[in-house]
Parts: sequence; structure tokens; C-alpha cells
Amino acid sequence: MPARLAVLISGNGSNLQAILDAIRLRMLDAETVVVVSNRKNAFGLERAARAGAPTRYHPLKPYRDAGRSREEYDADLAELVKEYAPDWVVLAGWMHILSNAFLQQFPYRVVNLHPALPGQFPGAHAIQDAFEAFQRGEIKQTGVMVHLVPDEQVDRGPVIATAEVPIYKSDTLEMLTNRIHQAEHRLLVNALQRLIEGD
Ligand code: GRF
Repeated sequence: MPARLAVLISGNGSNLQAILDAIRLRMLDAETVVVVSNRKNAFGLERAARAGAPTRYHPLKPYRDAGRSREEYDADLAELVKEYAPDWVVLAGWMHILSNAFLQQFPYRVVNLHPALPGQFPGAHAIQDAFEAFQRGEIKQTGVMVHLVPDEQVDRGPVIATAEVPIYKSDTLEMLTNRIHQAEHRLLVNALQRLIEGD
């Protein structure tokens, strides 16, 4: 039986596309049972629709406007995702920090992709932070990682896979960003394969 993947996105969805392509090419024994975005105009929703994957939109603003908490938002998000009975919940560019109200519904089943090496540059600006650290001579290279999200620590957790990514003096931030995204696309599929095979 193919593994059931719920994929959470917020933007372009190039990592979602890597998953969709790998499934179509039979490189990943999985099916994308739902793609959830917190942003209506996320291009990743278009990518999901083209691949025939169910899509759902779960915005935070109505909760904020109603004075409702992040925990309520996260608990409702968990209920939405549970409707699809996923084996794994993949955070592929999901730009909200998830509270235990969500995480505890999927213990050791939430997987996050982060464009930095373990313990380096947590948060939403990891690539720029690495680029600037390289310019300051503090690092010689950077990398990407896939890790489990057992608790509310941001961009930390049991590491499933990592890949080093070189930085060159001639790099612009855009060149490094593209190189990192290419590495992510490969690493995410390989990490998911490893999880699925080990399940
Ligand atoms: C990726 O770099 C991911 O690691 C980070 O956000 C980016 C999402 O890119 N959290 P995309 O939407 O998958 O193209």
C-alpha cells in the first residue's frame, strides 16, 4: 500500500513538486492524499491541483480577527489533516510554527525540511543567514536537512537526512538559493523514501 502523505505548504511548492514528480515516476511509493496551504495564492496549490491531489486552504487570519488562539488554529488544522488519515505529515515550506495542539495529533509523524544544517540558522531566513555568515568568513559551506518534529522546537528534531551545499565566493544570494533548493528537492524525496521503507 502506498504511504499516505499530507503535505503542508505556504508558497511556490517546488518541494511539493519534487514529491509529486517522484510519485509519478514511481521513485516514491506514496500518494499525496492532501495538500494544505495557509495562503490562498500559494502556487503549490496549483501544482497539487494539476497532479490531481486534493487541496485545502486553512488561513490563520479568521482566527486572529475573531481573537481565537494559534492553538485553536492548529487544533482545527489537525482535524482537517486527520480526515485524510496520513501516514506522514510533510512540512514543505509551511511557514507557521506548529504548536503541540497540532504536533501531538501526529506523534513522530511530522517531517520538516529546512534549508540549513542541523543546529545552524533556524527560522525563516536560513539561506540568507548562511550567505551572510559565509561573507563574514564564519562558515565554508551550508546545507539542508530533513528532521522529525516531535515538539515545538523550531527547525530542530531527530535528523533523518542532511546534505552539504557548497558556497562559492562568486555566489550571489540567488545562486546559492537555487543550489539549496535543488539539494532540498533531492534530499526530501530520499528522506521520505527512507521513512516509508522503514515504516
Ligand atoms: C524551502 O526552502 C523550505 O526549506 C523552506 O521554505 C522553502 C519552500 O520552498 N521552509 P517551496 O515552497 O517548496 O518551493
